[in-house]
Amino acid sequence: MSKILLTGGTGYIGSHTAVELINAGFEVVIVDNLSNSSADVLNGIERITGVKPEFVKADCADMESMVSLFNRYPDICSVIHFAALKAVGESVEKPLQYYQNNITSLLNLLFLLNERCAASNFVFSSSCTVYGQPDNLPVTELSPYKPASSPYGNTKKIAEDILRDSVHASKSLKVVALRYFNPIGAHPSAEIGELPQGKPDNLVPFITQTAAGVRDKLMIFGNDYNTPDGTAIRDYFHVVDLAKAHVIALQRMIEGKSKQNFEVFNVGAGKGITVLEIVETFKRVTGTKLNYEFIGRREGDIEKVWADTSLANNELGWNPENSLGEALLSAWRWEKKIRNIL
Ligand code: NAD
Ligand code: UD1
Repeated sequence: MSKILLTGGTGYIGSHTAVELINAGFEVVIVDNLSNSSADVLNGIERITGVKPEFVKADCADMESMVSLFNRYPDICSVIHFAALKAVGESVEKPLQYYQNNITSLLNLLFLLNERCAASNFVFSSSCTVYGQPDNLPVTELSPYKPASSPYGNTKKIAEDILRDSVHASKSLKVVALRYFNPIGAHPSAEIGELPQGKPDNLVPFITQTAAGVRDKLMIFGNDYNTPDGTAIRDYFHVVDLAKAHVIALQRMIEGKSKQNFEVFNVGAGKGITVLEIVETFKRVTGTKLNYEFIGRREGDIEKVWADTSLANNELGWNPENSLGEALLSAWRWEKKIRNIL
């Protein structure tokens, strides 16, 4: 079987996907510049699967490095492309860095696949951010793009456009873009998980760090939204379920089961959960206390979004297997492990 290239494969979602691909019998090559992850993750993958993936430290935005990578692995024609910068606030401060990194990486990979492969398969990490605040909920793949609220969000929209146009012009390229909602949690073994650098932007790492005593309290951004308890609604689901969606998407293309050469799927639990519901579920399943206070809304946040996942359910046969409680418990197990809490 040919090797699968995972860009950004030592990152949070990439590492969980590497595990599921190896478990499904694929050979994995990871390329990452380690700008937001560590090569130690490879040991965690090995402890879970018994296999240490091949690893190349390189920047996908650097064409020379990508040419060397494709020369070293000439049979690579399937790519799962996670590598991107993803901090929304930082992207507002440094838009050029975000466009350069996220768009140039994508273009380099597409040029090389186009040049070298008679048939290529590409899974892209997109985001529900492309929908903005949808007019109708749950949101389906047919809902229109809304103007991006950040350069980061815009890179996802532009990337989808680039992929759609590339497929249109190509006889060899197949693409699945997965629009992730809010992946949370860690591998049940607690060997790999999310490792945010500095103060976490995302809700669940902030909660686990607060419960672990690293932070004083959780600040809940806004309690005056038009939702049952006033806090914002998102669609949270287990990262291992998201990882499995990548394996299915890849197999669909490899086995020639795609209905179109460019396909888009929402990936989420299909259920809207408020911030307070997350807090209460976390306290219940972990038995920990959690200090929190309400502060004003975060700029750029939307009020509510959750996915209609019927396309992924029906077409991919994908359904999330883990509950919200299991996802939050796995996040807590991981936090305890990295903080040496018994
Ligand atoms: P992450 O930061 O943990 O992983 C991304 C990895 O890519 C990191 O290891 C980083 O070092 C690497 N990287 C970045 N730029 C690179 C480059 N030019 N060359 C090589 N490696 C590079 O993030 P994640 O949460 O695992 O996200 C993976 C993908 O999913 C990203 O594209 C992100 O935008 C997208 N996404 C994430 C979420 C989420 O909630 N985590 C939601 C929607 C979409
Ligand atoms: C954010 C990004 C999104 C990106 C995703 C993954 C924004 C506006 N959106 O999604 O583009 O794809 O992360 O990186 O940043 N919350 C708190 N207190 C906190 C942290 C979060 O109350 O300390 C709330 C937020 O206001 C939100 C919910 O928790 O209502 C989830 O936040 P977060 O985990 O950051 O995810 P998103 O905002 O959905």
